[in-house]
Amino acid sequence: MEKLFYGEFGGQFVAETLIPALDELEKAFLKIKNDKRFKEELDDLLKNYAGRPTPVYFAKNLSKKYGVNIYLKREDLLHTGAHKINNTLGQALLAKYIGKSRVIAETGAGQHGVATATACALLNLECTVYMGSVDAKRQAVNVERMRMLGAEVRVVDEGSKTLKDAVSAALRDWVSSVDNTHYLIGSAVGPYPFPEIVAHFQSVIGNEAKEYFFTKGVMPDVVVACVGGGSNAIGIFRGFVDDKDVELIGVEAGGISDEPGNHAMSIGKGKKGIFQGSLSYVIQTDEGQIARVHSISAGLDYPGVGPEHAYLKEIGRVKYECVRDEEALKAFFELTRNEGILPALESSHAVAYVLKNCEKFKGKNVLINLSGRGDKDLHIIHEAKELI
Ligand SMILES: Cc1ncc(COP(=O)(O)O)c(C=O)c1O
Repeated sequence: MEKLFYGEFGGQFVAETLIPALDELEKAFLKIKNDKRFKEELDDLLKNYAGRPTPVYFAKNLSKKYGVNIYLKREDLLHTGAHKINNTLGQALLAKYIGKSRVIAETGAGQHGVATATACALLNLECTVYMGSVDAKRQAVNVERMRMLGAEVRVVDEGSKTLKDAVSAALRDWVSSVDNTHYLIGSAVGPYPFPEIVAHFQSVIGNEAKEYFFTKGVMPDVVVACVGGGSNAIGIFRGFVDDKDVELIGVEAGGISDEPGNHAMSIGKGKKGIFQGSLSYVIQTDEGQIARVHSISAGLDYPGVGPEHAYLKEIGRVKYECVRDEEALKAFFELTRNEGILPALESSHAVAYVLKNCEKFKGKNVLINLSGRGDKDLHIIHEAKELI
């Protein structure tokens, strides 16, 4: 069982019926991970279809204004507008290799749903996406995009009607459809081997960023990424986790306040618990029920976090901080107006953390993962403008 865990975190806490599917997936993943044909096929898709490698951009105007050397890893420039496409192309190809004809997925901000629908259209796989009704409303454009791509969007009207309920509905579907269906999970969460698979397909972000700094002959002093389930963060951290001099910081959604229900700080305010297939930090009520969470950004509005993050926090390798909705909004406008780049509200949390701590980072090289672009968030930003 040891290999299923990150320290004490992770595992496979699922219905008995799913264990053979997880075993099959693990075996297939370990095989294709180093398979020459798979790697060539995926590399070709990442390069010629998705638009990799993404640039590392030195944000000179912000750097000058804040006295910090700010570098942005531009995952927002990828096809479909976010890092999610790295993982969906990888997993959809994996589904093909193991002979599955149908893919299911969950989505919060809609970026993962769109990226899944895209990969399925490309690879000719049937696609069903679960989405909470609150998210479906605030990300209506992405719902439309998924439908146009040929996916069936199943709107979930249970619980808080957000990402966690979409994951639960997808897991329920998978229990009864596992023979022909791959569950294409969108973040570094869920039972093993999902956290490992997602981290592997997202590690391209960190590897490319490291290569960039290597060729420049410098290293970042600090790497910062936002953390929802944790896939973009683990993707960029994997490039630097062995470089002990590089400080790694994950930024969770501080929402409106520290009060229960007002934030989504799974590591900052959660407790150890089993949630959606693995042991990690979970935001819970005093009775141990999954608590309500809030973030202005749909992609961070999740009460759990990937088990590897829980482990990295426990061993002290990564620091997890938080940023409020209002600060993320301010950072959105700072980046937009100073550099002409509209970041996703999720990524704005990482930017905000650096800007508000600029005194601490003075003169340092700080690499921020810009996980996605902000077009999907424009109406939220418009409505929330009076907050700042
Ligand atoms: C642009 C963007 N960034 C970040 C996230 C958060 O997810 P993760 O923590 O898995 O990177 C999302 C989720 O939808 C997203 O769309």
